[in-house]
Amino acid sequence: MKTTLFLGAGRITGALAAGLRLAGDKRTIVAYDRNAEKLRALWRESRVELARDLKSAIEHAEMLIVAVRPRSVKEMLAEVAACSAAPPKLCISLAAGVPLRNLQAWLGPPVRWVRAMPSPVCRIGKGLTALCFDRGVSKAERARVRKFFEQVGPVLELREEQMDALTAVYSPSHGYHALAKLAAAAQRAGLDRNTALIAAAHALADGIEYWRRSGQSLDELLHEAATPGGTAAATMAAMDKSGYARAVTNGIRAGIRQARRNAT
Ligand SMILES: NC(=O)c1ccc[n+]([C@@H]2O[C@H](COP(=O)([O-])OP(=O)(O)OC[C@H]3O[C@@H](n4cnc5c(N)ncnc54)[C@H](OP(=O)(O)O)[C@@H]3O)[C@@H](O)[C@H]2O)c1
Repeated sequence: MKTTLFLGAGRITGALAAGLRLAGDKRTIVAYDRNAEKLRALWRESRVELARDLKSAIEHAEMLIVAVRPRSVKEMLAEVAACSAAPPKLCISLAAGVPLRNLQAWLGPPVRWVRAMPSPVCRIGKGLTALCFDRGVSKAERARVRKFFEQVGPVLELREEQMDALTAVYSPSHGYHALAKLAAAAQRAGLDRNTALIAAAHALADGIEYWRRSGQSLDELLHEAATPGGTAAATMAAMDKSGYARAVTNGIRAGIRQARRNAT
């Protein structure tokens, strides 16, 4: 029996497993983790089987996905190398910022590597995943990995040097962060919490959905939503004057710096 094996049974493994089940993926999913409670929760939620020993889990894996935190990847791959089972020839790392050259150094040929950056929104089948590939990965293998992640949302193929910027920008945390800040400002302006969240969620999510569906440019939509001299125009001008663009740029730079720390 060939399986999809996750090394690490944390947040992103939980979201991916749920998204795969939602998409009707019937393959056996196995997870390896040192926390028994996380493994039990994954079984309850998505029928993910618990790997009792790493060696036999690797022997049965047709797809191996490294889903431990970036600082744990080296140690995890040393465990894989030490257990003397042959890993699949193509392995996937989800670790933010950890470059292909490090993965190759820690678990080398015949293994070839793919880096994937999935989003927890994959849990509902709408998670964007960015992929970049080792040079040696064949066209057929690329298509296989792409198809796997396309089950849980759209897929982008990038050059490796683009991955850190994508990682800092694509996170749904931006939406939650903006929603929290906008709703908090609305509450300070006198709305109750529920109304504040409804209004702020409409502003962000429905506005962006409209942009996606209408095919209109952002300039056209801004023109439609903000009457010159009106309330929306005054609100945006004050936000810009207060350093909105600078705050976003600095945030993205900090995210990229953090991802780059994982490369060392
Ligand atoms: N969360 C996201 O939205 C997201 C999105 C894209 C990519 N990623 C990437 O996915 C990876 C996992 O992120 P996450 O948020 O899912 O992390 P997480 O919730 O902390 O899960 C990682 C799990 O791996 C376990 N682990 C670490 N080293 C291990 C080892 N040697 N043996 C057995 N288990 C081990 C951890 O146990 P302990 O807690 O005991 O250390 C933890 O249960 C990261 O590299 C991250 O960059 C995450």
